[in-house]
Amino acid sequence: MTIKINNGEFLFFCCNDGNLDLLKQEIKRRYSYLHLGYSKGRFLTYKTTKDILLNELEPVFTTRWAKSLKKVSKEQLLSQEINILSLTSFTLHYFSLLDDETQDKEVSGYFDKYNNCNMENEFYYDVVQIKTDEFWIGIHAKDQRCAIFPNSDPKISLPEKSPSRAYLKMAEAHCLFNISITENQKWLELGSAPGGASYFLLENKALVWGNDPAEMSQLCLTNKNFTHIKKPVQHIKPEEIPSDIEWVSVDLNLNPKQSLAEVFRISKDFRFLRGILVTVKIVNLDHVDYIQDNINWARDRGFDHVIATQLPSHKREYLLVLLNKSAPKRLTVSSKKT
Ligand SMILES: C[S@@+](CC[C@H](N)C(=O)[O-])C[C@H]1O[C@@H](n2cnc3c(N)ncnc32)[C@H](O)[C@@H]1O
Repeated sequence: MTIKINNGEFLFFCCNDGNLDLLKQEIKRRYSYLHLGYSKGRFLTYKTTKDILLNELEPVFTTRWAKSLKKVSKEQLLSQEINILSLTSFTLHYFSLLDDETQDKEVSGYFDKYNNCNMENEFYYDVVQIKTDEFWIGIHAKDQRCAIFPNSDPKISLPEKSPSRAYLKMAEAHCLFNISITENQKWLELGSAPGGASYFLLENKALVWGNDPAEMSQLCLTNKNFTHIKKPVQHIKPEEIPSDIEWVSVDLNLNPKQSLAEVFRISKDFRFLRGILVTVKIVNLDHVDYIQDNINWARDRGFDHVIATQLPSHKREYLLVLLNKSAPKRLTVSSKKT
């Protein structure tokens, strides 16, 4: 089930803080039939100049894209004038794009109780606060990427003792893409220091081989399930790593081409590989134009399911999820090939 948007109607897009330019660049390059309407903070509206279906779009730098229905004030929202709660075949998602201090507590108090990750309904109403007294209402469909969480955010908090914020990237990918981590499952992490992502995997009882010339946190080093390969990735010989690694995570401060080349060199003989999670850094705006090349490159190497997306904790970067046939797939992940 999808949503039709007629020529002349509007969509809206929400994005991570500081990434508006990346989203605009992506839309300009990939969806030139969309014309910018309104922009505020990390919220944008676009008018389509042809009839489209909402699931034709798979933008990377957006956390939520929806058909835009209307803009309302707080008073209208809380009155019975907008009677969205009476539409029982819809799930409601309320979220605010404002800082915690400026969010409207009365409105969030009212709507938060309706927020849920119900997967039974085909459509979701999005109610988004973008200014103190400005809310937008839109609608998106279940088959869109990460549709079941308000603004695609599972709201995972960073444990105090995590060695780094990279814990969140791994925890969010695990949750949004339903990656099952089982006891003694073998993971390789390229670019593992100081160890936030490894810490998340170890907490989930995985066996982790972490590669990084930099120091790892004692929290990882003292865990018997962790092995540190302390050298640049370029110096690793495939025989230094078990050949039955199931998952590889890549978070290197290298250019994307080099990161991808290294990960494929090392993992090409892994017999039970289910998937690879690659964090791709965006160093300048031109890198936005190469996303499709990276996706195609991965497909040419036999990954039948490739997704490019930004996670809620991402800064100037995105995640490439490369899944083999044996990897579990969640309904929320679109299977459409771009
Ligand atoms: C963003 S940090 C990784 C954060 C880490 N995943 C965590 O969970 O804390 C990037 C890492 O890439 C490492 N790195 C850069 N060049 C590398 C190379 N050639 N080989 C291996 N690691 C490299 C850096 O030392 C740095 O620790």
